[in-house]
Amino acid sequence: MSLLSLPKRLIQRLGNLYAREIGRREYLAQEFLGINERSVEYRFAFEHLTQACPRTVLDVGTGRTALPHLMRSCGFLVTAMDNIKDYWPSAMVNRHYHVLDDDILKPKISGPFDFLTCISTLEHIRDHARAMRNMLSLLKPGGRLVVTFPYNEKTYVENVYALPGSIGADKYPFMTQVFSRRGVEKDERARAIEEIEVEKLRQDQEDETRIIWSSARNKIKEILELVKDPIFFERNGDDDEGGGGRTSRATTEWTRTGRWHARRDSNPQPADPKSAALSN
Ligand SMILES: C[S@@+](CC[C@H](N)C(=O)[O-])C[C@H]1O[C@@H](n2cnc3c(N)ncnc32)[C@H](O)[C@@H]1O
Repeated sequence: MSLLSLPKRLIQRLGNLYAREIGRREYLAQEFLGINERSVEYRFAFEHLTQACPRTVLDVGTGRTALPHLMRSCGFLVTAMDNIKDYWPSAMVNRHYHVLDDDILKPKISGPFDFLTCISTLEHIRDHARAMRNMLSLLKPGGRLVVTFPYNEKTYVENVYALPGSIGADKYPFMTQVFSRRGVEKDERARAIEEIEVEKLRQDQEDETRIIWSSARNKIKEILELVKDPIFFERNGDDDEGGGGRTSRATTEWTRTGRWHARRDSNPQPADPKSAALSN
């Protein structure tokens, strides 16, 4: 062991101890203050990441978040940047990832990147059009830019903290805009991406319905198995309804119209009141 390596190892140890202690204290001091919009924004970003499968990603306006770290955990080559000095009153430290101190209005960083994320940042930039232009210029042709921000279909708000009754007026040194549809008209490519999204949602909904139907069918099957007299359950059985008559082995079917169908099998026996009740 060299003499020089001793302080390095000691510093490393102390650093680890410090990080562990900070983590422990934050863990113990947690307080539930409600759920914010990040889960929706991150879900949206990750959905696009999984669709586009980029190699290089730039996160603009990282702040203190673990987003670049998470994306790196997924294998993407991630760069994070933030205009640290203008937004944070005291120096901001991101403990999860190395963040370049860079302003998207005059970026020093050069691309191109396959993919850009800009989560809840654009609304704090007065010259948002310039920020958008610069982000697009850092993108490879055919690359994807995911931007999330507060949105109101009809009304653009220049700064929500200036609205009457806002609780943020004296609290925040920065502005927060709410964008509206005006100015976010979509080009052909954006529309195509949106169509893929809608189709995906439709498929998800179909899958969900299928799962619900299947679990309902299994549940009903279980219930029917509890009934003493066995009843056969067939989703795709014949639809010809038996009725009245004497039936103990009824074949039943739960249809999408929500009705039970019962039909006699080839070996009719005296009817069981329980299965008769279910078949109505
Ligand atoms: C709401 S915070 C952090 C949002 C973060 N992306 C998240 O997922 O929670 C917005 C961030 O944008 C950064 N920001 C503001 N103006 C910027 C600029 N011109 N260039 C780069 N970052 C900027 C701020 O420093 C701040 O960290």
